[in-house]
Amino acid sequence: MNQQQLKNLLEDMSLEEKIGQLLQLSNSFYEDEAVLTGPAMQLGIGEKQINEAGSVLSVFGAEQIKSIQETAMKKQPHHIPLLFMADIINGYKTIFPIPLAQGCSFQPELVKKCASVSATEAAVSGLHVTFSPMVDLVRDARWGRVMESTGEDTYLNGLMSEAMVEGYQGDRSGEKLDQFGHISACIKHFAAYGAPEAGREYNNVELSERTLREDYLPAYKKGIDAGSAMVMTSFNTLDHIPATGNKWLMQDILRGEMGFEGVLISDWAAIEELVSHGIAEDRKEAARLAMEAGVDMDMVTGCYINHLQELVENGQLKEQQIDEAVMRILELKNQLGLFENPYKDADDNKAAELCLCEEHRRLARKAAADTMVLLKNENDILPIQETAGKIAVIGPYGEEGRLYGAWSLQGTDADTVTIKEGIEEAGYDNDQIVFYAGSSLLDEDEKLYGFKGLVKQYRERSNEDLLQEAVHAAKGADTVVMALGEHAYHSGEGGSRADITIPECQMHLLREIAKVNQNIITIVFAGRPLDLREIADCSKAVLYAWFPGSEGGSAIADLLFGMQSPSAKLSMTMPYSVGQVPVYYGGYTSGRPFNGNRTNRFQAVYQDIPNEPLYPFGYGLTYTSFSYSKPELDQQVMSMEDELHVSVTVTNTGKRTGTETVQLYLRDLKGSTVRPTRRLKGFERITLEPGEEKQVTFKITEDMLRFYDIHMDYVSEPGEFALFIGGDSATQNEIRFELQSQK
Ligand code: NOJ
Repeated sequence: MNQQQLKNLLEDMSLEEKIGQLLQLSNSFYEDEAVLTGPAMQLGIGEKQINEAGSVLSVFGAEQIKSIQETAMKKQPHHIPLLFMADIINGYKTIFPIPLAQGCSFQPELVKKCASVSATEAAVSGLHVTFSPMVDLVRDARWGRVMESTGEDTYLNGLMSEAMVEGYQGDRSGEKLDQFGHISACIKHFAAYGAPEAGREYNNVELSERTLREDYLPAYKKGIDAGSAMVMTSFNTLDHIPATGNKWLMQDILRGEMGFEGVLISDWAAIEELVSHGIAEDRKEAARLAMEAGVDMDMVTGCYINHLQELVENGQLKEQQIDEAVMRILELKNQLGLFENPYKDADDNKAAELCLCEEHRRLARKAAADTMVLLKNENDILPIQETAGKIAVIGPYGEEGRLYGAWSLQGTDADTVTIKEGIEEAGYDNDQIVFYAGSSLLDEDEKLYGFKGLVKQYRERSNEDLLQEAVHAAKGADTVVMALGEHAYHSGEGGSRADITIPECQMHLLREIAKVNQNIITIVFAGRPLDLREIADCSKAVLYAWFPGSEGGSAIADLLFGMQSPSAKLSMTMPYSVGQVPVYYGGYTSGRPFNGNRTNRFQAVYQDIPNEPLYPFGYGLTYTSFSYSKPELDQQVMSMEDELHVSVTVTNTGKRTGTETVQLYLRDLKGSTVRPTRRLKGFERITLEPGEEKQVTFKITEDMLRFYDIHMDYVSEPGEFALFIGGDSATQNEIRFELQSQK
């Protein structure tokens, strides 16, 4: 349709019909036979309103979506097609590593490819929109949703946000949405959902405007600039105002400053929750507040559908506001080409051909190998050599299929390569390798609720039994590979935890194994950074696998036996203990920074633990080592218009080819507001043969030095800056330069 046709359509619609477009119904309206007595009654709506709804959430499968579309269009007065949306977070059928792991790749190109494959599989399965990427910056490992973020760094998150949007949508303008295999992205959760107090899900957010602007907003902005057709509001409050009813945030910042012109959807029931937050008397007031804030679409509540008409009729809202929201939704449908082809790419045959096809699995395997972080590798125990002798793979994750995390709604154990299968497939399976569970995944008394209720533990044998045979196997083995971790549902939405360790039964297993065999390589599965101290102490090597997805087991075999070398770097700080969180690299010095001498009590230091995390942001080993030369500058002083170049030479000092992510951090040594001790400003991945060296050069321009100054202006201030270049955020490889004031 052209713009005029869209306008004509809008003009022809009744107010009631227009409001229908703003309603998003859940799958229960289409899967349940007793719709009118169940879901519809809950929402307080009838058949007419169901027929006029504008979009649907979480229906899966091309045939089902086509049939719902066909029926819905017949019933909708203007035959307007529905939008089908779902959470395709790290893959549709082919599951990629969780987003936090994807962040560790430091490869936006790879992340873009994963998003593009996810989009293709979702599109042929009938979907039009994914509720991804989640670009919330995260600093608190207690919060289970850190798994869905790409980490704690503003710059890295921004690149990943852009990459994912382009991967889903096909290009930056959103103009290719109607083409095969493209779906709309939805940047979420606007804003600052990643900073809930105490890491507790849905909790309030207390954040200064400066930190919000400087650290949190840029990744949303990057995704918007990349053309994301949708944005989702967050559940949390910010400055005591729930985001979904926050006019300043949505109108002034999102639409005004950031220039977002697409569709703004509430998070699940977030409009209605304005009542529980205590800023709306009832659903009607909630509807008014959300509409005034500029929220176009109401995800699964009856607020808009039941109250907007009355609010317009009694003059509390203008019809113009409704029209603008509806127009944005119609435009999105039009961009997707739905008026011409309401089924878009939905095709069961194509889905069967493309989902989990060889090529997609190959990408998933590479992504998994490139996102697992090698945290420790004493005596080069990894990769396992042919001469390593007998290997015992011990732990509940050895034969576990649930390697795809909490958010992979279409992932199945059967479609996932387990560690055992990966090792077998790679041909390492012989009488030298044995597998024992050693313990259950969850503690006996733990009642864990997943997205679909209680997680049932199937136990044929007691933990004691399992332990005995595993200890016996470990005694007879030369090397032990422990496969341990959290359950997938320990993280994800609703997955906040105060204790960020793995279940006690698994720790007990590790301790018992460590008593009889010291050659332990531990693979850890998790949706968050864990307190790893004891695991690291008991192990010669630690490979952090996160939740690696469909090809997790093959990628682990690739890394264990050296077919691939690890290259990932932490996208989120691994805390020393939960007492440190929220913890992140490059914090602030305080007026009394710790000087390393604990005899002075009055310093910014814990009495009982170090200030430093166990492993810093950006950290990750590989099977070789690198040395860095001192950074060199092409000029010591730069003007506002200058480009300055800083270089280092990186040498592979080990015996194997390896990939290093060379990272550039910057510190503003004095500012009109207190500046962080460092921030990532660039990185480059290089691969070097043994003995090979390479010069890496970064360009510094004035815009990289800007921040929100004392007047809240985004500017740079003349003075001295420090640059750090190294293999992680703790590097002390430093050089300084000066920014001159303008003459
Ligand atoms: C709630 C989550 O916060 C959001 O991220 C998700 O997209 C919606 N539910 C829809 O499932």
